[in-house]
Amino acid sequence: MDKYAKLFSKAALIYLALGAFLGIGISVRPDWGERIRFVHIHLNLLGFMIMMIASVAYHVLPRFNARPLPWPEGVKYHFYLQNVGLLGMVSTHFAGGLWTNGALHYLFVLSAVMAGGGILLMIVNLYGVLAPADAGTLPARITGDMKVGEALDKFPNALPVFLASGFDSLANPVARKTFAKVVTIDKACEKHGVDAQEFVQKLNAALFSRSAPPTPPGRPSTEASAKEGRKIKMGEFCAADVMVGSLVKVYSETREVFEKHYGEECFSCPGHAIETVEQSAQMHNVDLEALLKELNCVVELQLKKRR
Ligand code: HEM
Ligand code: HEM
Repeated sequence: MDKYAKLFSKAALIYLALGAFLGIGISVRPDWGERIRFVHIHLNLLGFMIMMIASVAYHVLPRFNARPLPWPEGVKYHFYLQNVGLLGMVSTHFAGGLWTNGALHYLFVLSAVMAGGGILLMIVNLYGVLAPADAGTLPARITGDMKVGEALDKFPNALPVFLASGFDSLANPVARKTFAKVVTIDKACEKHGVDAQEFVQKLNAALFSRSAPPTPPGRPSTEASAKEGRKIKMGEFCAADVMVGSLVKVYSETREVFEKHYGEECFSCPGHAIETVEQSAQMHNVDLEALLKELNCVVELQLKKRR
């Protein structure tokens, strides 16, 4: 569980204890009710209830929807705003701030705005997790008018199909970054004397049929990593699309790297078995490149020890 999601749970339990204590106070002395009824209600509802919901929702919703929070930093700001706001509200209300015209009333309003602002952040962030995926990120199929470079960027698995059809120059990464970016698939076919319609069909069949061609060496498959991960074998280095569970099974010492970044209870979540390194980094707002470097250092050390 992330730091602030956990802090929300802890704060919620503290507010429940305080709220229940005040509830007992009102039961014993109903005449206190007028003063502390608001405090009791808001510690319990705004403190315990909303914060416990926030804690669970921040942890669970991104995992259920396989989508990270649009603004992970926002959880921290929500935490401080709602806590400072709630404590300000209950203390100024207790001191009579709702009914006076002076500074106390302004303080109550300021606290109310802070608590409200925190809740607004939660709404926006969680709504972003639930919003439908952006359909425009990956085209449904490759078409002839698409630039060769664009097709390769979006579908790295298309490279072996290009190479097998005689586009040998694409084996060179510089070519893929330069002229491939300006030439359409139709034009490239024309130049190489390849039937464009047939070739596009071949590409789509290879990419969208069940048995897609293997990822070219050295290039992690971005398409595969967005969907399902792969297992790693002893002797291989880690890439973005490797499943965390498989990596830890083969290179047990990488477990400590995940625990360091994601918290010690990270492996209590069953998701780790099928989540890829890339997906896990996204979920925990950790830089993927830096994480892969760290993991591969550990992999290298473990491989050296075996020799
Ligand atoms: C040991 C636990 C609790 C005790 C002894 C307690 C006691 C009380 C008492 C004596 C009142 C005042 C009733 C009145 O003035 O008519 C009250 C009101 C209230 N309590 Fe609690 N309470 C407890 C826990 C909670 C919890 C956990 C929540 C919410 C999560 C909660 C929500 C409320 C609300 C919303 C009211 C206002 C009800 C209304 O406006 O009629 N209480 N409680
Ligand atoms: C930014 C958040 C909130 C602010 C600024 C706020 C403010 C207020 C104010 C000014 C009152 C009237 C108090 C009075 O007449 O003395 C009130 C009453 C109440 N609020 Fe809130 N509130 C907030 C959040 C919530 C939430 C999240 C809940 C429930 C989930 C809630 C439940 C209630 C209830 C039940 C009352 C009636 C209390 C009574 O019967 O005396 N409030 N709130």
